[in-house]
Amino acid sequence: MELTPFMKSLGLKYPIFQGGMAWVADGKLAAAVSNAGGLGIIGAGNAPGDVVEAEIKTAKSLTDRPFGVNVMLLSPYAEDVVKVILAHQDSIAVVTTGAGNPGKYVADFKAAGIKVIPVVGSVALARMMERVGADAVVAEGMESGGHIGKLTTMALVPQVVDAVKIPVIAAGGIGDGRGMAAAFMLGAQGVQMGTRFLVATESKVHPNYKKAVLKAKDASTMVTGDFAGHPSRVLKNKMAKKYIKLEKAEALKDKPDFAELEELGSGSLRRAVIDGDTATGSFMAGEIAGMVHKEQSAAEILQDVYQQADKLLSGKD
Ligand SMILES: Cc1cc2nc3c(=O)[nH]c(=O)nc-3n(C[C@H](O)[C@H](O)[C@H](O)COP(=O)(O)O)c2cc1C
Repeated sequence: MELTPFMKSLGLKYPIFQGGMAWVADGKLAAAVSNAGGLGIIGAGNAPGDVVEAEIKTAKSLTDRPFGVNVMLLSPYAEDVVKVILAHQDSIAVVTTGAGNPGKYVADFKAAGIKVIPVVGSVALARMMERVGADAVVAEGMESGGHIGKLTTMALVPQVVDAVKIPVIAAGGIGDGRGMAAAFMLGAQGVQMGTRFLVATESKVHPNYKKAVLKAKDASTMVTGDFAGHPSRVLKNKMAKKYIKLEKAEALKDKPDFAELEELGSGSLRRAVIDGDTATGSFMAGEIAGMVHKEQSAAEILQDVYQQADKLLSGKD
């Protein structure tokens, strides 16, 4: 498979991004992915600037290859994180952004030689990102783990490809080389995967969380937060079921008040990733969790996915 000029410009061997997952994607995981030829991305999530900086320093100490940082624009620390990224501009190749419009930061990132790649869930947002100067977009379907949009990857990716001139990277529901090949057939130039990297050997995710992903079947995920307007795909567990029950009850009221739910959800990803708490943790994962059967190194994951996609796309099989 020939890499497109854009993917080559990122210095990649494989056109595969490891999604910048809050709490999960630290400097160590990002460096392992980058060392193996993909694009490792540190997930800043809601972390303060100094925490993100420590992860950037870790990644820098472990790899000379390009890596990225994902900025959650809704984070109260987004401004600080952007400052930290700009201070480390010599080693950061890419910034991906979630939950909003990075427009006000684009000029500074570009002046620093950092490519800006927002994650989008609709054609309208993709078009807006192109207008504000994004270098590419990640079109992410609702099969994905974590916060999701409304459209499926199968429907979203070709419509975004038709709507913008900048490169499109597909995300959501890509679990192996078949998914990657399909994404390329839809017009994507690369893929971003999150769920499969949750169980990478280099991922710090708690063993209970990894076990839950490895045990998952096709219908093991559910979407919480839909009524409150911030849907998230998670593995079904006690916490998710309790959340949905409360959420539905609240939504039926004349004046729904989601404060209690906010409280319940607050810190729940940390409790899953760090504590492996199955009672109160949100085990965010995508629908492809049912396809993930073993823990592998980041390098093995990248090779497996790429080689299978390459065979399929070149008709070598
Ligand atoms: C645990 C978890 C946390 C995530 N956190 C973020 C995040 O902070 N920012 C973001 O843009 N995407 C986040 N994502 C989405 C991933 O970066 C990636 O786009 C998505 O997982 C791809 O779909 P897949 O799960 O089907 O592979 C998260 C996904 C998971 C599973």
